Amino acid sequence: MTTVKHDIELPSNIPELLLEKHANYLISYGTNKDEYNYSQTEHMRMSGMYWGLTALDLMGKLEQTNKEEVLEFIKQCQSDSGGISASMQHDPHLLYTLSAIQILCMYDALNVINVDKIVNYVKERQQADGSFAGDQWGEVDVRFSFCAVATLSLLNRLDAIDVEKAVQFVLKCMNFDGGFGSKPGSESHAGLIYCCTGLLSITGHLHLIDADRLGWWLCERQLPSGGLNGRPEKLPDVCYSWWVLSALTILGRLHWIDKKALIDYILTCQDVESGGFSDRPGDMVDPFHTLFGLTALSLLDKNFSLKPINPTYCMPEYIIDRLGLKPSRLD
Ligand code: FPP
Ligand code: ZN
Repeated sequence: MTTVKHDIELPSNIPELLLEKHANYLISYGTNKDEYNYSQTEHMRMSGMYWGLTALDLMGKLEQTNKEEVLEFIKQCQSDSGGISASMQHDPHLLYTLSAIQILCMYDALNVINVDKIVNYVKERQQADGSFAGDQWGEVDVRFSFCAVATLSLLNRLDAIDVEKAVQFVLKCMNFDGGFGSKPGSESHAGLIYCCTGLLSITGHLHLIDADRLGWWLCERQLPSGGLNGRPEKLPDVCYSWWVLSALTILGRLHWIDKKALIDYILTCQDVESGGFSDRPGDMVDPFHTLFGLTALSLLDKNFSLKPINPTYCMPEYIIDRLGLKPSRLD
């Protein structure tokens, strides 16, 4: 059987990394609150802030952000249940609870929030089978398992949940190809593989992965253009440079991909005029793809003037060191 490769042609000239433009793009994205694009992303504002602030920290520009304004926003997004929402007056969710905790760790400001209430909110999301529902309405997905475990580990409160059961649920989502899907029986997907390897890295269970089999599936995501897709037969997309590379790094198999070809793909996804990265060359840029373009470059080459990124938490390595966390990796 042949598989069709959907791919793109890279332009012949590869721009250099335009760090100054990316920093300006992200700072003005967070400042120009009347812009159409900003108003359209209110339902995911907390994660949007995490993407922008993490990218700025990697570029050494965190001090140019408005820390007090961000901390005030996070406080206002904590609900009575303890969980944190994407924006004021939205429902709390594990996705935004993790983003908020990641921001507070970067700002070294966990003291501004009620941590016990957050721990309780996360604990209450665990189901009898070890899985996690994202919010009070009950959707289950391994993304929420990762958010729960990452949040509690950043707070040094993993003891609040049944970690063994959380691991058992993730293992039920492992497929014959070595990958992981969103729930048992779902197709392997690079974003969900990041969540599952991340959870197993935090909890010290990476030995339960067939690293060669999964590493092979992950490096097969590289297309002739150099870009990576998230599943077979999909187009390349800059964000998969992160979801795939973070997992390969945790598995000790980053050298299984063609680094130079991927770097060229990522660099061509920059908007050379206004800054920012898009999913594919010529598309509209956004903070999500800007973060994952930069985090992937940080993993790929130490010469890019970017701080090292931690592959498990998608946070600058110096923050993970400051917290005394040691997520595991395979050799
Ligand atoms: C692709 O999404 C990505 C995923 C499914 C993984 C999302 C992971 C989290 C929310 C965990 C927290 C993340 C970090 C970085 C700390 P998509 O909707 O773009 O997938 P598609 O390409 O298949 O549409
Ligand atoms: Zn994408």
